[in-house]
Amino acid sequence: MKARLSASQLASLADQYQTPYWVYDASVIRAQIARLRAFDVIRFAQKACSNIHILKLMREEGVLVDSVSLGEVERALAAGFDPLAQTDHAPIVFTADVLDQAAIQRVTELNIPVNCGSPQMLEQLGKAKPGHPVWLRINPGFGHGHSRKTNTGGEQSKHGIWHSNLDQALAIIDQYGLQLQGLHMHIGSGVDYSHLQAVGDAMVAQVKSLGRDLKAISVGGGLSIPYRDGEAEVDTDHYFTVWQAARREIEAHLGHAISMEIEPGRFLVAESGLLVAELRAQKQAGNNFFALVDAGFNDLARPAMYGSYHRISVCTRDGQERTGALQPTVVAGPLCESGDVFTQEDGGVVTTQNLPVAEIGDLLVFHDAGAYGASMSSNYNSRPLLPEILVEQDQVKLIRRRQTIQELIALETGI
Ligand code: LLP
Repeated sequence: MKARLSASQLASLADQYQTPYWVYDASVIRAQIARLRAFDVIRFAQKACSNIHILKLMREEGVLVDSVSLGEVERALAAGFDPLAQTDHAPIVFTADVLDQAAIQRVTELNIPVNCGSPQMLEQLGKAKPGHPVWLRINPGFGHGHSRKTNTGGEQSKHGIWHSNLDQALAIIDQYGLQLQGLHMHIGSGVDYSHLQAVGDAMVAQVKSLGRDLKAISVGGGLSIPYRDGEAEVDTDHYFTVWQAARREIEAHLGHAISMEIEPGRFLVAESGLLVAELRAQKQAGNNFFALVDAGFNDLARPAMYGSYHRISVCTRDGQERTGALQPTVVAGPLCESGDVFTQEDGGVVTTQNLPVAEIGDLLVFHDAGAYGASMSSNYNSRPLLPEILVEQDQVKLIRRRQTIQELIALETGI
């Protein structure tokens, strides 16, 4: 479901908070959650959008979280997730690629299960706290992503324990009496659904060859959304049906019920979020017509990083959607690099989107930017992080204020 924020709302937010800004439509997040209710646990991969207020919304909806860093654990705690509460499912699971001392100390004191992707993680955890709850993240030997950079399975992926190398991991689990709770597979982000059956089969085969009892499986995340007009929605019923069959086979093998978790990031938040920027300059360069806005790849990194497509629309400052004659437009930002272009393919080839003829001061709206948008922003070119706004029906809430330049400088002065 797409965000339903009108041109006049976006224009008045620009007046109130200046540009650029991020805005999220809460109703989209709630609707996307509802589409996955068949799973026992929806565990939000908070890396996609880790604002505490978004996490609170997730908590209100009964969604749990996956954290990948100490910072994300602290965000989940600030949003009210309580890992020490007596609950059927751990409110927070920690899925990191490496464990540092500070993270080990925090997860062990809070009894947060750790999804381990190497024997060393198990060893370090076991030494710190024998008996700690763990999951095993398995690399099934294949993967897929919308870009090579988001494929998390197969021989080129650093993630997870290779599917046929589990002996050492199991020996360490036994040595330290770690409590093995579940198996986890996440083959990539923006997956190709033709792999779905294969991952389900791999999970069943893995449980059968493991020879251990388990109480849960996690099918990972990876579900995409239609970024381009005409792209299909993921068929969540089919997704569930395939995994439910795998789960039943695992339950028959183990002789008892298990719970099944899904761990989406993008699917829950991408369509809720927009990046709104102001048109600051227009120019012709040979055959290319450029529109330059006040947001850059330090704000929305996905086009520069993966060649990702974000549909762009245009609003006037008096709150009308611009229509009329279209022109092929290269949309670019203010940064000091030629790669600061929002319309580009993987590898940096500049492309265009057909945009209505616009005027300086118009708002350019980047759609489907709620996942891996604000959470991947940086301070490159000493640009402060943008404000985030959450809209819930008629209520508008500033959920992060704009960072100031003084705050950036303060990190380096008076030390
Ligand atoms: N679980 C694990 C262990 C993950 O590593 C990820 C994403 C997810 C779940 C959630 O994946 P999702 O449902 O969002 O596809 N920055 C990239 C995506 C990187 C994904 C990293 N891991 C992008 O902008 O497309």
